[in-house]
Amino acid sequence: MGFTPDFLDEIRNRLPVSEIVGRKVRLVRKGREHTGLCPFHNEKTPSFTVNDDKGFYHCFGCGAHGDVINFVLETEGLSFPETVERLAAQAGLQIPESKPEDRHKTKVKKTLYDVMEAAAHWFESQLLAQVGTEGLNYIKKRGLTKQTVKHFRLGFAPNEKTAFKNAMLARAEFTEQMLIEAGMLISPEDGGESYDRFRGRIMFPITDRQGRVVAFGGRALSQNAKAKYLNSPETPLFHKGRLLYNLSGARKAAFEKGRLLVAEGYMDVIALSQAGFPEAVAPLGTAVTEDQIREMWRLAPEPMMCFDGDKAGRRAAIRVVERSLALLKPGYSLKFVYLPEGEDPDSFVSSYGSQSFETLLSEGVPLAKVLWADLIEGVDFDTPEQRAGLEQKISRILSEIRDTKIRGYYESDFGRRLKNLFGSEFVPEINLHDQGPAVGAKENQRSYPIKSFSKNKGYGQRQGETSIGNLHQTEIGKTAKLSVKDRERLIILTVLEHPWLLERHEELFAIFEFESLELDKVRNEIIRIASRDSDLEKETLRHHLSENGLGQVVDTVYRQGVLTAQRFIGPKSSAEETEETWLHSVELFHLEKIEKDIAILGSKDLNEEEFARLQALLNEQSASNKRISDILGKDT
Ligand code: UTP
Ligand code: MN
Repeated sequence: MGFTPDFLDEIRNRLPVSEIVGRKVRLVRKGREHTGLCPFHNEKTPSFTVNDDKGFYHCFGCGAHGDVINFVLETEGLSFPETVERLAAQAGLQIPESKPEDRHKTKVKKTLYDVMEAAAHWFESQLLAQVGTEGLNYIKKRGLTKQTVKHFRLGFAPNEKTAFKNAMLARAEFTEQMLIEAGMLISPEDGGESYDRFRGRIMFPITDRQGRVVAFGGRALSQNAKAKYLNSPETPLFHKGRLLYNLSGARKAAFEKGRLLVAEGYMDVIALSQAGFPEAVAPLGTAVTEDQIREMWRLAPEPMMCFDGDKAGRRAAIRVVERSLALLKPGYSLKFVYLPEGEDPDSFVSSYGSQSFETLLSEGVPLAKVLWADLIEGVDFDTPEQRAGLEQKISRILSEIRDTKIRGYYESDFGRRLKNLFGSEFVPEINLHDQGPAVGAKENQRSYPIKSFSKNKGYGQRQGETSIGNLHQTEIGKTAKLSVKDRERLIILTVLEHPWLLERHEELFAIFEFESLELDKVRNEIIRIASRDSDLEKETLRHHLSENGLGQVVDTVYRQGVLTAQRFIGPKSSAEETEETWLHSVELFHLEKIEKDIAILGSKDLNEEEFARLQALLNEQSASNKRISDILGKDT
């Protein structure tokens, strides 16, 4: 849809910027301008100004700048035509109709929209009628509430050949041809009578960006139906590769929360929404397409792709990574969230609850890490030829990144990782095939990246005035008795004083969620800053944190943290000592979490899966204990 420049100017003329901005931002008038807190970055004192005479907003803090159209575009997650349509309506302007043939198409589409709306309505009514009993029972069994059913407009298609067709044709507004064109009836090739496409299925209306029903997904009730899910075919209204399930429903929440969750199935989206995550969408029965990735980015800069943690899930994740490389643009990427094997978001929230899902989300892995892990998975690099081979493979895949800036960062980042990977082989006692960072990604390895500390890092070689064993038992021993909050403080404080720790242990720091909300905020902010600035200075870090409104929390950490701080974080302690103690704290922290989970599982009757999980946790626990005793310099 093209709009003429005159028409856009007319919108700008009619709508004062302050009026549109004022709906989102509290503005205070100052002379000819308005000022307020910038909605595009986090700030405490206003540096955002709006000038109606000039028709612009401008932020002196972050440089955000634009007119009414830009503002709505940036803050509402709407497309350009949608933005213009909305503003035009607010300005009392009619959108000029273009060519006559377009007008005809628009008309045909319009009636198809009516068909789809009528269909959705009819399916809804069937679900609540006698014929829908089985469907409704199934929905209840899946744990969906009445409100959820209503919100997602779930319905039921009776298991009869032409129940839908008869009901629609009885209304006289629709012809058989229209129902076929809308994809709702199947017209046999041999010229036989047309019949209902969806029979004996729970119906999920699929809406477009504006919330209009354009297609359906139908889930079979019977186990032995040919396809568990059946979707509408491509129609003038529906192009499955461009749309996402629940796009219109997720938009507002995604914008407010600044994040978007991407699941694989309809039921996942619905269950997530019911569990307090309305910011969820799903592709429509196909792998994620490029168009869908672009669509996701209009809702959030780093959509979180949720996959089953099994092999198939990880392979699917890699396919998405590969597909997205060419599309990456500054500020936009993807994150990957792996669920325990065999779980999907729906089953996960129902067995572990929303809080655990939130924790899982906080452990989302950035695209670069997923790609890296995949590149080195199962690769040998003992010989120069193998190393060159790996290097070539890496540079080949990175060449798919079209954005030169991003490609540059990836190249230097992967170059560094490669150097670490190869370099570490020369450290005595590391066998790269069963241990160490390279194999973090190998199968059967713990997927979280605590690198094996202790012996192979050369800690034992440190020479000092005190004997190592004594030091460990006194200094570190003390920290073992801390409360959770104190331990969290200590972990943060150490990073604040020694930001270089993040160079080696950023992932480790990123992986645990703190129990204290405010400390967790600080932790997240540190991770965010560290990901932008690789050699972070202590002063810069503190400055950033106070800029972002966390100054007070940080001050408290300093004040109270000193109580718990020991000399290992002071300027006199050696780097190894600091690192070791910090790792020890983090490891204890991890161990506590594992033990909590074990206690929960231990207190109930376990099914097979839970039993496996318990087994895994117990293994984790003993591995963790082992590492702790390694750090403490003891043998068991
Ligand atoms: P799943 O089988 O994982 O779906 O397929 P699910 O949502 O977990 O299903 P249930 O209801 O909980 O058992 C994921 C998605 O793949 C598409 C659908 O879009 C589904 O939501 N799909 C799956 C099909 O299109 N056809 C199929 O036969 C199966
Ligand atoms: Mn499922």
